Amino acid sequence: MKGVILAGGTGSRLYPLTSITNKHLLPIYNKPMIYYPIFSLVEAGIKDVLLVTGGEMAGDFLRLLGNGRELGLSRLSYTYQRGSGGIAAALSLAEDFAEKEKIAVILGDNIIGGSIKKYVDSFQMQKDGARVLLREVEHPERFGVAEIGNEKIVSIEEKPKKPKSNYIVIGVYMYDSQVFDIIRGLKPSGRGELEITDVNNYYLKKGGLTYDILDGFWSDAGTFDSLLLANNLVAEKERKKSN
Ligand code: G1P
Repeated sequence: MKGVILAGGTGSRLYPLTSITNKHLLPIYNKPMIYYPIFSLVEAGIKDVLLVTGGEMAGDFLRLLGNGRELGLSRLSYTYQRGSGGIAAALSLAEDFAEKEKIAVILGDNIIGGSIKKYVDSFQMQKDGARVLLREVEHPERFGVAEIGNEKIVSIEEKPKKPKSNYIVIGVYMYDSQVFDIIRGLKPSGRGELEITDVNNYYLKKGGLTYDILDGFWSDAGTFDSLLLANNLVAEKERKKSN
């Protein structure tokens, strides 16, 4: 399976931290944020990776990551997203790279404490469709929220005012090659973006969406509080390792 890391966007919720750099280059404890999604993929055995980025500082990724070998990748490809059209728009740039293989997609600001290998392996065994990872959180309003019934996802709502559950869809998505046709059929949401939640709901309607509940810690890092939380979680893990 190939991997795609989405690291574009303007990082507007972190301004002024993101006024002169890309969000994904900010520190998470002792490493740049972008290292963590790379490590998650490498640890799961995914070493052929496309990085989708954008903005004025895109060249900094090349300076930092080079060919990716030092981080355990066998091949690191890059592409550039003009403007900010949403997560699904960024993913559409990976079509040629994917070469009709299944892909594991990870958002560049998702910091995952444990291994995602078992979920990736399950998707490898899954004939087709998509697989998402869920997590229970206290304040689900700022995420894609999954309603679950009879151990199946019933619906996913993006940033609902009244969430139907505390289970959110984290930024790790696994797709078969249909995903690019699905994205072509999407219409921009109220916030003018092609939403990844619409992609997942498409699979859901067709009966092809499975899920796992992630264990270990998880945080995104797109707001001041989640950035701080991600830093603290990683700091704690690193300190435990060195004790
Ligand atoms: C995005 C997705 C959302 C998901 C979240 C996970 O939100 O749209 O469904 O729960 O990532 O990090 P964003 O960070 O773009 O607000």
